[in-house]
Formats: sequence, structure tokens, C-alpha cells
Amino acid sequence: MAHRAGIVGASGYGGVELLRLLDGHPAIEPAVVAANAQAGEPVASLFPNLTGARTFDAIDVGALAELDVVFLAAPHGVALELAPTLYEAGVPVVDLSAAFRLSADGFTTWYGESHPRPDLAAGEAQPGEGVVYGLPEFRRGSIRQATLVANPGCYPTAALLGLTPVAELLTPGSVVVDAMSGTSGAGRAAKDHLHFAHVHGDATAYGAPAHRHTGEIERWLPGDLGAVTFTPHLVPMSRGLLATAYGTLRDDVTADDVEDALRSAYRDEPFVHVLAPGTFPHTKAVAGSNGCQLGAVVDPRTRRVTVTSAIDNLGKGAAGQALQNANLVLGLDETSGLSAIGVYP
Ligand SMILES: NC(=O)c1ccc[n+]([C@@H]2O[C@H](COP(=O)([O-])OP(=O)(O)OC[C@H]3O[C@@H](n4cnc5c(N)ncnc54)[C@H](OP(=O)(O)O)[C@@H]3O)[C@@H](O)[C@H]2O)c1
Repeated sequence: MAHRAGIVGASGYGGVELLRLLDGHPAIEPAVVAANAQAGEPVASLFPNLTGARTFDAIDVGALAELDVVFLAAPHGVALELAPTLYEAGVPVVDLSAAFRLSADGFTTWYGESHPRPDLAAGEAQPGEGVVYGLPEFRRGSIRQATLVANPGCYPTAALLGLTPVAELLTPGSVVVDAMSGTSGAGRAAKDHLHFAHVHGDATAYGAPAHRHTGEIERWLPGDLGAVTFTPHLVPMSRGLLATAYGTLRDDVTADDVEDALRSAYRDEPFVHVLAPGTFPHTKAVAGSNGCQLGAVVDPRTRRVTVTSAIDNLGKGAAGQALQNANLVLGLDETSGLSAIGVYP
């Protein structure tokens, strides 16, 4: 029998991508698709790719507590309210928001709020039992045992997949990350700066130097690399995220060391693909998939490495990774229901 899943925030971009993925999943069915203002409305009225008569459900915590897994794809305040109840009830939760990704102090620093449940913050030195930051490539053993998975943010996913294997080759204080995202990264709600007339033909930086994802990248980058400079950019695409990370190599490190580190980290990974040195990834190549493509080059003149990562912000950056985590939590094949190939062109 299929595992029964709930999506809270199913009317949002992350939630509806989960619904699309679960509709094709062989072992998890979307039993509850809950929304807030959109509760009662037909799913197809917002998302015409999902035909059928299904309507969005209202949020009912009792009903969610009966499920096999719950995805929280809503603002972090909603996750802070719902996740503890589900966790206490023993229901596995994959939270797409930032509510549990940092330590309690880190959450206060970057989100300006005190954390109501420090014991459930994955970034604590000793998080509570079954609480984990869900980057499967580096933590799948713990994710298999988890009750609460803090699904990484979109920019941190791209930056960490590029930087983690080479982190020990870099000098502290040298890491810079520039990244670009399409507008679906900002969610479905209409906002002035996201209107077609503003975004089309435009590109701009935002959030620097204190975008909230900076703290998440710093927290989960291995070793002691110190402060990271992170600048996100909004570019005129619907989906897709490209992160370019730079770091200065330690004295004795060679370009071959960088290549070996990346290849050995991802040799057996189903979703992360390392391109030949000098080949740079395209966001379009991973669109609609849970894939991440990485390209790295070393500049012998500056002794810096440049690692570029392409993901779909709604795929590996949100819903795809959440489903990868749920597969692990439920003891399923990690790749179940996740197409490995992007839509191109
Ligand atoms: N978009 C991305 O690329 C991305 C990537 C990684 C992580 N995330 C994170 O994933 C979460 C969802 O992001 P999104 O982009 O999908 O957002 P979104 O498109 O704005 O959707 C937000 C969802 O949350 C629901 N919601 C809003 N306020 C609520 C409330 N008070 N109580 C219950 N539900 C409420 C909305 O329901 P109604 O529409 O019915 O009001 C909607 O379903 C966020 O925490 C975001 O930071 C997003």
C-alpha cells in the first residue's frame, strides 16, 4: 500500500511541484493537499498542468497527524507552529522552510526572531533525536533515521554541493558565492518587483551582504572557512538557479586535487553530475529535475577555484530534494519518483 503524504502549502510553488512529483510516485500518494487562502479552490484553477477535479484542503492538524509523512511548504512561521506537534506525534516531517535549518542562535541572527524550539533546530551542535539538515549527499544515514528533516534552502543547496567536496582545499575567509535565481524562487504571491514588466530584460543583485542564506551556507560548509560573501541575483527566468562559488586554494593544492575531490564525492550520486573541467553547467539542463550539474576550473594565476552549480530551484532546491529526503525517511529507493533528466531545450 502506498505511503500517505500531506503537503501543507500545496498552493505555493514548492508545494505544487511536490504535488506534480507525487502524482507520478510509485509508493507515495498525496493524500492531503492543504492550503491557506486557497483552501476549497480547484488545484487546476491555479495550476493548469494538474488537470482533474481535486481541490485544495484546509489545514487540519489532526488529519496531518494520521499520515505517513508531511511536507511543510509554507512560510517558516507556519512550520514553527506545525512541525513540533507532528514531531511529538512521531509523524515524519520534511520542512522546506528555514524554520529548522540553523541553530537557535543562528535563526535569531538571520531571521530576527527567537526560536521557539531550539531542541528541534538542526543547526544546534547536538540537535534533538531524529532532527537533521537534509542534504542527502552528505547526511543520508541520519536522514534515514530522521523524524524532522530541515530541507536545505535553494541557494545553500547549490553552493554547498559545489563547495563541500573542496572545502578542505580552501583558505579560510576566501569564499565568495554569486548566485542567480528565477522568479519562482520568491514564491507565488504577486509582488511589484516580480511583475513581468520589471523582471523581463532585467537582472539585479539583491539582499547583499546579509541575505539570510549566507548564515545557512556558513553553518553547513565543513571545516572552519569563516565568513562567506554571498550575493544573490534575480534574473528573468521562471525557474532555475546558478551559483558560482570562488575560493582561494591552499598552497600545495593542484587543479587535479580539485577535480579528484569533486569526482570522488559524487561518483555514485544519482543526482549530482560533475562536468569535465572547463565545461559550465546550464540551468536549463536540470529544469524540472532533481539534478545538480557542477563545473569547476582552477585559475593558476590567482590560485582560485571557481565552482559553478546549476539546479532547478523548485527541484533540487526545494521539492525534488524534499522528496529525495522523504524517500530516505520512508525506507524507499532514494530516487523513487524523481526523474534524473532535465527538460531541454
Ligand atoms: N520557491 C522556491 O524556490 C523555494 C525554494 C526552497 C525553499 N522554499 C521555501 O518553501 C516554502 C514555500 O515557498 P514557496 O515559494 O512555495 O511559497 P509560495 O509560493 O508563496 O506559497 C506559500 C504557501 O504557503 C501557504 N501559506 C501562506 N501563509 C500561510 C499560513 N499563514 N498558514 C498556512 N499556509 C500558509 C500558501 O497558501 P495560500 O496560497 O492558500 O495562501 C501557499 O500554499 C517557504 O518557506 C520558502 O522559503 C522555496
